Amino acid sequence: MYQYNEDDQTLIEERVAQFRRQTERFLKGEISDDQFRALRLMNGVYIQTHSPMLRIAGPYGLLSSKQFRKLAHIAREYDKGYCHFTTRQNIQFNWPQLERIPDILEELASVQMHAIQTSGNCLRNTTSDHLAGVCTDELEDPRPYCEIIRQWTTLHPEFAYLPRKFKIAVSGAKLDRAATQFHDIGLHLVKNDAGEIGFQVLVGGGLGRTPIIGQVIRPYLEKKHLLSYLEAILRIYNLYGRRDNKYKARIKILVKETGLEKFTQLVEKEWQLIKDKLELSAERIEAIKTQFTPPAYDSNAAEDTSFAQHQQENQAFATWVKHNTLHHKVPGYRITFLSLKAPDSPPGDMTDTQLDAVADLADQYSFGLIRSTHRQNLVFADVRQVELFSLWQKLDALKLATPNIGTVTDIICCPGLDFCSLANAGSIGIAKEINEALDDMDYIHDIGDVKINMSGCMNGCAHQSVGHIGILGVDKKGVEWYQLTLGGSSENEAAIGERLGPAVAKDQVAKVVTTILDVYVKQRLDDESFLDMVKRVGITPFKEEVYADN
Ligand code: HEM
Ligand code: SF4
Repeated sequence: MYQYNEDDQTLIEERVAQFRRQTERFLKGEISDDQFRALRLMNGVYIQTHSPMLRIAGPYGLLSSKQFRKLAHIAREYDKGYCHFTTRQNIQFNWPQLERIPDILEELASVQMHAIQTSGNCLRNTTSDHLAGVCTDELEDPRPYCEIIRQWTTLHPEFAYLPRKFKIAVSGAKLDRAATQFHDIGLHLVKNDAGEIGFQVLVGGGLGRTPIIGQVIRPYLEKKHLLSYLEAILRIYNLYGRRDNKYKARIKILVKETGLEKFTQLVEKEWQLIKDKLELSAERIEAIKTQFTPPAYDSNAAEDTSFAQHQQENQAFATWVKHNTLHHKVPGYRITFLSLKAPDSPPGDMTDTQLDAVADLADQYSFGLIRSTHRQNLVFADVRQVELFSLWQKLDALKLATPNIGTVTDIICCPGLDFCSLANAGSIGIAKEINEALDDMDYIHDIGDVKINMSGCMNGCAHQSVGHIGILGVDKKGVEWYQLTLGGSSENEAAIGERLGPAVAKDQVAKVVTTILDVYVKQRLDDESFLDMVKRVGITPFKEEVYADN
């Protein structure tokens, strides 16, 4: 894991001191709401329905046990005892008091954390594959490049006031688990014909009210040109991106309106001016890579036989292993998911007690590191299989072992009306109702991979347009209604979901979801997944059943 040097530490400490003074001046009435707005947004502070909301960066989703303990402490001392993990591997506190936020930021700085550029029209936290470095389908670990991008984006003087926010995701694996095609820039580590590894660069993807799949602007970019090429794209966006209309200000609109060909020409021309000056040296890449060396794995880990025996003897454990753990590239180890989707808890939330306990478990079982995932769960990347049984028992006691990873109850959900001032409709309550309607784990496992994504408004924070089943809260004359889409995906074969039909009433959403699943169960072919079936038959059979009474 990357450890801050003196410069990193000074930078975030000075930023805390600066924000403290800005907050004090605002509270004394020396600066206006508008003036303070721009300042707080550069520091992750939103003003929401009930209180400010603080978003903290989780760099490419990698956190240490020490940082988790700090989050637990903040949840307990400054908030209402919990926090929320987002789809972009960040952490949100929903109840801090504005006057105490500088103290929270000071606490965070003591464990190399901050909230810089987690909101506002700037370069945001770079996200990545939560299985980076341990999965079996990876060309190269993307995290050193994420860190290089993190350093380049942090307080970049030219890009502090972009037309709109800007998000970058990097993946090194065959399967895209980081929604790279729906980012302003998506980077894939790929091999060229000569066998060298570089980047395929995608541009102009995004969600929200105009979901667009990113397009390839460069099929292969040498690693040494990474920062100069990113800089060239950002310059063109900064120059030509629309500032007249915030709904048209994202780079996806610029690429669409300009056309990929013309946009590419502009970028390439700009790139020629800077590519030699901004070269990334092989030494710099190697130096950063040394901070991501694999932990000291036990070479005898695969010799144990108790793991198989426990699975034979304990059905619940075997089910959890099947759904919540994955093959690791090192024999004898498993990648282990901690489900933040217990049926009765808001998706993605964690209490202070859970945060503290997870920190201890990470130290005991997974080299003190924790990752957060795009689907709002956690990962212990390096667990010896011999220790899985005891880890499972402890996670179960903490309500973090619901065996539902990748299933229909592993719902991505935004805060909706409960906290968000932009919301049209509630989402957490609907997630609970769906869970109540689907309380049979055998049925859930039989249905398999169905991804439900649900947002409380068009901004699409929970990626509803790329959910296999997407649920979008809409407002109809002050009443909460829900628009459903089917067939979306943010993985390799990316797709935007198709609208099922007219919006449905709040009390009908869970029933509509179960009806859709029943149609799937009745009409699927052998091992056909939900998404494959929607692709094969289209939405008509689902539509007929859902709107049968109309
Ligand atoms: C409660 C406070 C929140 C507010 C006020 C907020 C606001 C917004 C707005 C206005 C947009 C649309 C931006 C645009 O299209 O340019 C947006 C998009 C987004 N938000 Fe949020 N959000 C909040 C919470 C969250 C949470 C909890 C998550 C994760 C679960 C999240 C993740 C995202 C993502 C991934 C997008 C889509 C970005 C894209 O279009 O590429 N946000 N948010
Ligand atoms: S999707 Fe809408 S309701 Fe949900 S968090 Fe984003 S802005 Fe708020």
